[in-house]
Amino acid sequence: MATTDWTKIRQDFPVAENITYFQSAGMSPLPNVVLRKIMEEYRKLNQFGDAFFQKDFSEAYEVRKKIAGLINADVNDVGFSWNNSLAMSILALSWKNKYQTPFNIVSMEEEFPSNSVPFEYQGITMKYVSHENHGYPIDKILSLIDNDTKALVTSYTQYASGFRQDIETLGTELKKRNILFIVNGTQAFPLYPVDVEKMNIDVFTCSMHKWGFTGHIGTLFYTSETFRKTFPSPIAGWLSVQPQENEWFYTGKGKEFSLYDSADRYFTGTYNLQGILAAGVAFNYLSGIGFEEIRNRITELTDYLIEKLSSLPVKIISPVNSNEERSAIVCFDLEELPPEECIKYLEHRGIYTSLRLGHIRVSVNIFNNNADIDKLCDAVDVFIRTFYEK
Ligand SMILES: Cc1ncc(COP(=O)(O)O)c(C=O)c1O
Repeated sequence: MATTDWTKIRQDFPVAENITYFQSAGMSPLPNVVLRKIMEEYRKLNQFGDAFFQKDFSEAYEVRKKIAGLINADVNDVGFSWNNSLAMSILALSWKNKYQTPFNIVSMEEEFPSNSVPFEYQGITMKYVSHENHGYPIDKILSLIDNDTKALVTSYTQYASGFRQDIETLGTELKKRNILFIVNGTQAFPLYPVDVEKMNIDVFTCSMHKWGFTGHIGTLFYTSETFRKTFPSPIAGWLSVQPQENEWFYTGKGKEFSLYDSADRYFTGTYNLQGILAAGVAFNYLSGIGFEEIRNRITELTDYLIEKLSSLPVKIISPVNSNEERSAIVCFDLEELPPEECIKYLEHRGIYTSLRLGHIRVSVNIFNNNADIDKLCDAVDVFIRTFYEK
């Protein structure tokens, strides 16, 4: 079997020539092939306007099909929403409309706020599981569920620690308890596998600008058929409505209409067609390398990063002892030194990391190499030494 030429892959990402980039958990840079597709699509708009609209629409449907295949879903259950926050807001409103008696949602205390603000804003009671060394043992999650709990909302991978949850085991337990399972895969998918059937996921979201390599194109929004049947959509737009025969969109006024049974109902209106077409190219690019290959490479790089960080006076806060809980994100603390100053220091040297919940977050990607990690760790070392010498 041919092994992947990672040096060649690196050449697909000009960012790697310009800076030392460990901020893919914020936004992945576009590989050349995705940039070319975006340019091609906008050039088409520039030179032919809307002439290819129907064709583009069909191509976008093929992209949906491809993504649906990757998560073992039916294409009719997969759509897009403007962002994860809007998708979660739709859920919050759906539940408020449905449940007449008090209810609560269980979630994790270190979730990205797009998993909490939409529910809190609607006045929904949230019960947050406190972390154990930044991980969330399933027993602990289950112990917070009570008779009023309707759903569990979790990230597949936590944005500020990199902890990756065992979604399949959690999904099995929730199914036994008849609790809706809402998974935000933004920091994991498509690098780490998703199977909505096997994992008993009712709703899956994934904002694509991180590990989808697409730029800001919105969030993938999977809903099970049962979910849509149980919870009528609390919002609708012209594209949510099932058209009459011989129309391609609904134009009636003051008459009864019904929404698509499928996830199409959540598209609501015009969406980022050019971006979705580019997502098709991004998925082809990644699956061409192979997701298992990519995961192995990420593990290789994070192994090296963990080894190098372990020789420095820093504290790795990510749960890195179990491979099953690891991801592309490794976070560390500098004990009593100010992390924001370290991040600025690194940035002045062309090394991009980020500060999340007070930790320095390093996310590695397929274009990174050991030399990038050496550069980062050497700079952190110098920062610490210089700080103490001051
Ligand atoms: C886990 C997670 N979910 C969602 C988002 C983004 O949310 P939204 O799509 O609402 O901008 C981020 C980061 O930006 C994230 O880390």
